[in-house]
Amino acid sequence: MGQSKRTVDLQEGRHVEPTFVQVKRTEIYGGQLVLVNREHPIRKTISSDKLLPLSVNPSLKVLQDGMLLEKSCLHHLISLLDACQGMEDIVAVSGYRTKEEQAHIYESSWVENGPEYTASYVALPDQSEHQTGLAIDVGKADKDVDFIAPSFPDSGIYRFFKQLAAQFGFIQRYKEGKEQITNIACEPWHFRYVGFPHAVLMEKNEWCLEEYIDFLQKFTNDGERFKFENESLRVEIYYVPAEEGPYTAIPIISCEHYRLSGNNRDGFIISAFTGKGYTARA
Ligand code: DAL
Ligand code: ZN
Repeated sequence: MGQSKRTVDLQEGRHVEPTFVQVKRTEIYGGQLVLVNREHPIRKTISSDKLLPLSVNPSLKVLQDGMLLEKSCLHHLISLLDACQGMEDIVAVSGYRTKEEQAHIYESSWVENGPEYTASYVALPDQSEHQTGLAIDVGKADKDVDFIAPSFPDSGIYRFFKQLAAQFGFIQRYKEGKEQITNIACEPWHFRYVGFPHAVLMEKNEWCLEEYIDFLQKFTNDGERFKFENESLRVEIYYVPAEEGPYTAIPIISCEHYRLSGNNRDGFIISAFTGKGYTARA
């Protein structure tokens, strides 16, 4: 079977035959699995054409007008809110933030709440997932909603949202017990879109994103690929280290659909989907 090479900027595509895609080094810094934290700051600003206003769905409750999210993240958030019937009771508190907005939030919190609180609950500019468009803070729809730490109870519809979140590609990013790794306190309101089945795998194994990215590093196309399977689809996941030059030739295995993400560290993660159900929630 012949293998073709082509250059892509895209983070996903459709394939049947095995192939290679040539990916720019800067793609390390984008995609659904980018790890953003103190050690791995944002290296690439999301382009505005990848963002969508939450107002595309008028049923969505928002704390402020003009909120934006990365497109796939927003579509899956809407599906998740529909699935848990949370449109009435859950408000979107904060989505995409620019670096300047994050700096402003950090500085205001420093003044209002002090250094210790701020370091626990607000990331420094360029260290916030909100700058990727892939993070959404959700809160209990109430008269007064705290912008930095909104209430998100562990009961009723809120618990249901949390239970369904992974099926729709979302994880609670900052959990109790992981503070030493994430350097952020437990935030029941901050959900990060990583996509399906990554969120399911992380939840099942109780891994935070740092741990999951480390785990995936062991699975390569030359060695063993990680395999996820359910009744309707099969996903093979593997890591490809970036080459030294400006491009990396990434092997894509035979599949119906693949997704490519940078890890914001040193390489790429490929998720290769096969099976009828891959469009449902992937
Ligand atoms: N609240 C999270 C850590 C942020 O500011 O991005
Ligand atoms: Zn947040």
